[in-house]
Amino acid sequence: MVAKKNLCILILAAGKGTRMKSPLPKPLHIVCGIPIIAHILKAAQALSPAAIGLVVGHGADTVIETVKSNLSAWGISAPVVFVHQTDLSGSASAVKAALPLIEKFETVMVLNGDTPLLHTKTLDQMFDVHEANKCGAVVLGVTVPDPSGYGRIVRAEDGSFENITEDADADEETKKIAEINSGMYVFNSKLLQNALTQLTPQGPKREFYLTDTLALIKQMNAPVLVFGSEDYEQALGVNSKAQLAEAEQILRDRVALRLMDEGVTLVRPKEVFIDPEVKIGVDTFICPGCYISGKTVIGKNCYIEGNCYIKDSVIGDNVTLKMGTYIEESEVEETCQLGPYAHLRPKSVLKKGAKVGNFSEIKKSVIGEGSKVNHLSYIGDTVMGAGVNVGAGAITCNYDGKNKHQTVLEDHVFVGSNVNFVAPVTVREYAKIGAGSTITKEVPAESLAIARTRQVVLENKGVKKHD
Ligand code: UD1
Ligand code: CA
Repeated sequence: MVAKKNLCILILAAGKGTRMKSPLPKPLHIVCGIPIIAHILKAAQALSPAAIGLVVGHGADTVIETVKSNLSAWGISAPVVFVHQTDLSGSASAVKAALPLIEKFETVMVLNGDTPLLHTKTLDQMFDVHEANKCGAVVLGVTVPDPSGYGRIVRAEDGSFENITEDADADEETKKIAEINSGMYVFNSKLLQNALTQLTPQGPKREFYLTDTLALIKQMNAPVLVFGSEDYEQALGVNSKAQLAEAEQILRDRVALRLMDEGVTLVRPKEVFIDPEVKIGVDTFICPGCYISGKTVIGKNCYIEGNCYIKDSVIGDNVTLKMGTYIEESEVEETCQLGPYAHLRPKSVLKKGAKVGNFSEIKKSVIGEGSKVNHLSYIGDTVMGAGVNVGAGAITCNYDGKNKHQTVLEDHVFVGSNVNFVAPVTVREYAKIGAGSTITKEVPAESLAIARTRQVVLENKGVKKHD
């Protein structure tokens, strides 16, 4: 998008968010894997403004800290200027707190910090309308099925903008208006600054309403336009946990629809939870109950059974994940098979065609091409070659209470059931380990290692048959 040198975007996120009934500041509540504020910052950055300001107040330290430490994870490279609002006396006071920033720009876009479903495209169109008509202000107005709680857009007889009346101050007639203020505006900066000086406190909480500036700007004989959009969902403001869940569902639906458009098969689209940035190849089949999050990339033709969890991972083509598989920050190459109930912890790599089965846990390990860890194992800090077969219940003892140590299993090693590898330890290629062994020393190539006590049989020492 072409850089908008005259535009500053100001995001209002200082409010108390009382209706969330939560100690967590409202901007940090999560919608589809990232905080509400991250959705807004992303949309703001996509417009290429000259500056982005974020007004913080309630829970400011937590908000600033979270935003600063996650900006790059959210893909935000534009600098964000934090503005402190100390009095928390309404949305207009929030803008006033940012005067030193907005004074430097000709045009100011103001966005409420609680509308995570906003579309960059709509904001861009609003900006264009504002510039083309030399407006004093443009506000996004949408018609919603249930306008309660929102500010209503009151129009004059000729249909032009008259004012915004807040829900708390509206009479019965005004409450019937279904066209609401979305909380997204574009202002001529000078006129906005002028209007801010003329406000008086309103409503039961004696707040300074940003919404009152629009009628004041109109009185200055500058055009004030309502920009309409059919898609009313984008205006959903999150004030309560119910609205948070509504936003989550709408965004998940949008993601599911996009993925199906791209050729992904979702058996029951409403019952999968896929984050917006996840990429999935064609004809990958996803069953209900899966949660696929973060920056995960999944190839084509995969078969993913129910209740799998995949976070920040890369899955190749033709992979099968059976029921209940859990994968975190790992890489699974093509044609691998996992599960049911396999667990890949961070930094695990499964090479082509590898298998990790029932109740096996892999941590920070490489499982070589075609190798198998099929039943009840723990493999940690291990480098495994190709064609290795790990028997049921084999365990790497990688931790001595202080440090982690490495296990190396070279190509074509065969590990019997219930073996312990006391790391650091290396098993050379084509070696075989007898079942029940505890391996503490290097095993040479092509040899058989057995490290267990021999069986002793004592006659007549068993259970007495006739006691
Ligand atoms: C606001 C609008 C309403 C609109 C609705 C859309 C006003 C007066 N009303 O109502 O017309 O329909 O959004 O969702 O603006 N904030 C601050 N500092 C404050 C108070 C609020 O930064 O002192 C921020 C909040 O963090 C929030 C935004 O301003 O992001 C809006 O505040 P909120 O209390 O949610 O306003 P609504 O009652 O939803
Ligand atoms: Ca709100």
